[in-house]
Amino acid sequence: MTEKKIPRVKLPADARLATLAVREGLPASAWGENSEALFLTSSFRQPDAATAAARFANEEEAFIYSRFTNPTVTMMERRLAALEGAQGCIATSSGMSAILLLGMGLLKAGDHVICSRSVFGSTIMLFGREFAKFGVETTFVSQTDVTEWRRAVKPNTKLLFAESPTNPLTEVCDIRALSEIAKGAGAWLAVDNCFCSPALQRPIEYGADLVIHSGTKYLDGQGRVIAGALCGPEALIDEKFVPVMRSAGMSLSPFNAWVVLKGLETLAIRMQAQSAAALQLAQWLEAQPQVERVYYPGLASHPQHALAMAQQSGSGGAVLSFIVRSAADRAEARRCAFHVIDRTQVCSITANLGDTKTTITHPASTSHGRLTEEQRQAAGITQGMVRVAVGLEDLADLKADLQRGLETLTA
Ligand SMILES: Cc1ncc(COP(=O)(O)O)c(C=O)c1O
Repeated sequence: MTEKKIPRVKLPADARLATLAVREGLPASAWGENSEALFLTSSFRQPDAATAAARFANEEEAFIYSRFTNPTVTMMERRLAALEGAQGCIATSSGMSAILLLGMGLLKAGDHVICSRSVFGSTIMLFGREFAKFGVETTFVSQTDVTEWRRAVKPNTKLLFAESPTNPLTEVCDIRALSEIAKGAGAWLAVDNCFCSPALQRPIEYGADLVIHSGTKYLDGQGRVIAGALCGPEALIDEKFVPVMRSAGMSLSPFNAWVVLKGLETLAIRMQAQSAAALQLAQWLEAQPQVERVYYPGLASHPQHALAMAQQSGSGGAVLSFIVRSAADRAEARRCAFHVIDRTQVCSITANLGDTKTTITHPASTSHGRLTEEQRQAAGITQGMVRVAVGLEDLADLKADLQRGLETLTA
């Protein structure tokens, strides 16, 4: 039992999210800095040997060694936990290492996982290939068909894992329904909240036990760092994840934590502006004759539109995909998608998302390029598909950027 605790910032108990986004963290240091300090130090001096012993034995909470405790990282963890409505948070070196920590903390040989088959490609590889090496079996199921999740439950099911909305098809899962299945199975539900961020969606409010983040995306929000985090109940974090972090060291660097910490201050207004622009761009694309279909949860035509609006604070988020109209031939579809991407002058051709700079990518040859054509077809990721993660540029410039390619498509 830890007796001495690291102090908290003095804030009203009912401080609201916008306030917590800029104020939650740690009290200022002895120098009274107004912007949070960056503690670039690998270790912390201890006042005497006995105190050091108490701190290493977890009898006293204090900063010891930056593989598992650093004030800048703690500030980021506390702020993100507050925004997610979680008791606690543990920051990791990347979004993937947050999922690695999740698996290492919760699973052992003989356990079973149910995972949406529409999650990020590296997540599929981590569960399907890497964890399998250690005797953990994963069943991949439909993102949207709750009965498939229910049928996949086994006596040894320990974890349900979903991501919502997904990349690039923007499929939305029903978090509350999955949470009921997880509870019935005595398993944990973890949701990757990378696409919405807590500014739009707070999975814990819908019954998720744990929330995963790639801080690389909207939390930083300006495409500067690789970062990750896992949010959830404090006791679970202390018992299951802190020991793994201490032994395995997938820690977030203080510098990257500081960048994310400052990014969180503007998260809500960025998400609001980028999502509003994405909705307008999606509506515009839907009206273009050269566009066959638009995937965006904010559109009434999206199959899970109502669910998305309820679960995502009435917003579709800032990522959309569309299919360029072309002849049925796959090679021709790919040529048309490349044509649209290559005519852009403002958008960045890059697979990242969550940046203030709009990014454009061809999922079939980048993020999903490792899949076979058959797997891609099954997943609905066609050669004519283009994904846009909308940033903060003027919407008129973004429309003109896409129009340049669309109107010069040749049959
Ligand atoms: C939904 C989702 N989860 C996790 C990750 C992995 O995050 P990172 O690149 O920070 O490891 C990504 C990366 O694109 C992602 O899109």
